[in-house]
Amino acid sequence: MLTDKMYAALNDQIKHELYSAYLYLSMATYYADQNLDGFAHWMEVQAQEEVEHAMKIYKYIQERGNRVILQQIDAPTTEFENPTAPFAAALKHEQYVTSLINNLYTLATEENDYATQVFLQWFVTEQVEEEDNVGKALHLVEQLSGAPAGLILADKQLGKREEE
Ligand code: FEO
Repeated sequence: MLTDKMYAALNDQIKHELYSAYLYLSMATYYADQNLDGFAHWMEVQAQEEVEHAMKIYKYIQERGNRVILQQIDAPTTEFENPTAPFAAALKHEQYVTSLINNLYTLATEENDYATQVFLQWFVTEQVEEEDNVGKALHLVEQLSGAPAGLILADKQLGKREEE
């Protein structure tokens, strides 16, 4: 069994991961509406990854003998100023999620919960990758979005993202 504090914090993290999926889907549909199908694809893949993150925690809580209590998920932003804005917002969001994972790890240490520390190490590493992926995509979009041809090129490039 998890301690009460550890359980509550992990249970909360499921909501944050599912909100992330919701946010990236919102960005995907914004791009699809702008006929930027490559950007939309990139965001759809990202959203799928977030559901996988949520499911990892969901299964872990159950493995530890606790019951998951799903919480309300906030509505995501639906309007963006320009095609660069969602990627900039995504990077900020990933930095926020990294801080949440770090807080979970700190709590697992305080609770002397060694199994959860090991479990969370995957997420610590994953967040490095998440920030790097979004940061690189943002950089590409920023570099190329000055001109319509550049935007199409960036769209093509990000449309190649494979599911992991
Ligand atoms: Fe689940 Fe993008 O962090």
